[in-house]
Amino acid sequence: MGSVRSLLLFSLTPIWALPAPQAVESGVINPPGPPGATGSLRGSEALQGYNPSNDVPTEPSTVIPPEDFEIAPGQQEDADEGLYIDFTNVKNPQPIRGGTTGPTDPGPRTEAYDALNSDIYAPPASDAGDVDNAKWPFGLSHNRHGLAGAGWARQQNTGQLPVAKAMAGVNMRLEPNGYREMHWHSAGEWALMLNGSVRISAVNEDGQSFIDDVTAGDVWFFPAGIPHSIQAFDDGCEFLLVFDDGSFSEDGTALLSELMIRNPKSVVAKNFRTSTQALEKLPTDQLWIFPGTPAPTDISKQNTTGPAGVIPQQASYSFHWSEQKPYTVPGGTVKILDPRTFPVANTFAAALFTIEPGAMREMHWHTSSDEWTYFLAGKGRLTVYQAPASSRTFDFSAGDVGYVPVPNAHYIENVGNETLVYLEVLQAGVYNDISVNQWLGLTPRQIVKDTLHLDDDVLDNLPKVKPFIIPGNKDLTTTNFTGDPL
Ligand SMILES: *[C@@H]1O[C@H](CO)[C@@H](O)[C@H](O)[C@H]1NC(C)=O
Ligand SMILES: *[C@@H]1O[C@H](CO)[C@@H](O)[C@H](O)[C@H]1NC(C)=O
Ligand SMILES: *[C@@H]1O[C@H](CO)[C@@H](O)[C@H](O)[C@H]1NC(C)=O
Ligand SMILES: *[C@@H]1O[C@H](CO)[C@@H](O)[C@H](O)[C@H]1NC(C)=O
Repeated sequence: MGSVRSLLLFSLTPIWALPAPQAVESGVINPPGPPGATGSLRGSEALQGYNPSNDVPTEPSTVIPPEDFEIAPGQQEDADEGLYIDFTNVKNPQPIRGGTTGPTDPGPRTEAYDALNSDIYAPPASDAGDVDNAKWPFGLSHNRHGLAGAGWARQQNTGQLPVAKAMAGVNMRLEPNGYREMHWHSAGEWALMLNGSVRISAVNEDGQSFIDDVTAGDVWFFPAGIPHSIQAFDDGCEFLLVFDDGSFSEDGTALLSELMIRNPKSVVAKNFRTSTQALEKLPTDQLWIFPGTPAPTDISKQNTTGPAGVIPQQASYSFHWSEQKPYTVPGGTVKILDPRTFPVANTFAAALFTIEPGAMREMHWHTSSDEWTYFLAGKGRLTVYQAPASSRTFDFSAGDVGYVPVPNAHYIENVGNETLVYLEVLQAGVYNDISVNQWLGLTPRQIVKDTLHLDDDVLDNLPKVKPFIIPGNKDLTTTNFTGDPL
């Protein structure tokens, strides 16, 4: 508190005391206050500039004695090693990288941010230059509530994460039987069920209808302009939406309720071939998210079709991704979902990774699209390398969004104790990535050797197929992986 008080008394005063052109009398500089007010709103003009009678201010000291803070495992190692620093159980963590003494941070600060972002707070020596922010936690997004406690949604678009121009995300909750109102919008909507299940329905331009039930791990896609509805079952649900437009706003969708409100009643009545009296119970405000009547569990009871029939399976708006057995490699698993098997989502290529503690999604980049990333579980870190000569390392945990512009290289290392689960989404007709391992493994050895001066035993280990994931030691201070073939 001492340092905060002295900051208010001494440092801020000159700023507040800048002379106001039309208010120079002392009565205006310090107007009378309410009963009980003490001190002065503005300091004296004599506080400006050099004052020979002032002592050099020395108190309080900002030096933090070594016994007042702890060094995390690996924190004193050479900054070039760039080890992950886990501040979770560390007393009064400091932004030290290499060594044990400094630099320190006397405050003001909020320790929880520093612990969640240790690579931002104490960056590895490889970080350089300017890289746009690549992280947005949904926990920092405004949580818009629906009606009567029926759910909520929070979003990430360029308003939150300016670099994320190609895609935006929404995290939505529907309480038991809650609806996301019948609506449509300008962007394509790709969704991953995170928890629970929902019934989704839609109708296309040809009068074909669609209805399905999807559960955690499943995906749906509604093309731009296609009207759809979403309703939770008895257990409620939570899901993730990804839109193919970084400026998309969940608050800007076109709603059935508003379509009724925004047109003359006589026109609505004529449109439905009824009278305006029949419209008396129409909603008077938008519904957006609202409580609903439980959906019949037998889906056939809600299967409404016309002469055009249902949307054929090859054009279906859902993909039961939860039922795909993952591709398993040492260190984790990966499942890819792109237009090769889900053609309706013709610009969405996604990969769902699980990475074991210590393992990492190998160094790679995408050739044709930015990457929008969502973290479902665990803790990971990612370094964005961006030419020319820039890189920055970011830390992520469940509920965070990441974004890497094309063609910046990155990896994702599991730096926690539990399995890291994360989703990569690209705007691409085919999921694509360049594996640094495979690139070097398929380049004439002499070229790689002349460039990187690696020993033959390292070059012998370069794979000719993509490993996707590189296994690693759970102890992140162990950096010798010599002899581990992929
Ligand atoms: C789903 O919700 C339940 C109930 O709150 C919770 O226990 C579980 O951890 C959630 N699942 C995931 C994957 O977060
Ligand atoms: C809906 O009915 C159509 C036949 O009209 C059928 O082909 C389709 O499989 C049904 N869908 C569901 C989800 O029951
Ligand atoms: C891993 O587990 C250890 C022991 O339970 C704990 O001290 C540490 O904070 C955990 N690390 C992370 C990154 O969660
Ligand atoms: C790394 O490990 C290998 C095999 O475990 C060992 O032969 C080598 O000496 C180690 N290198 C260093 C620098 O510790």
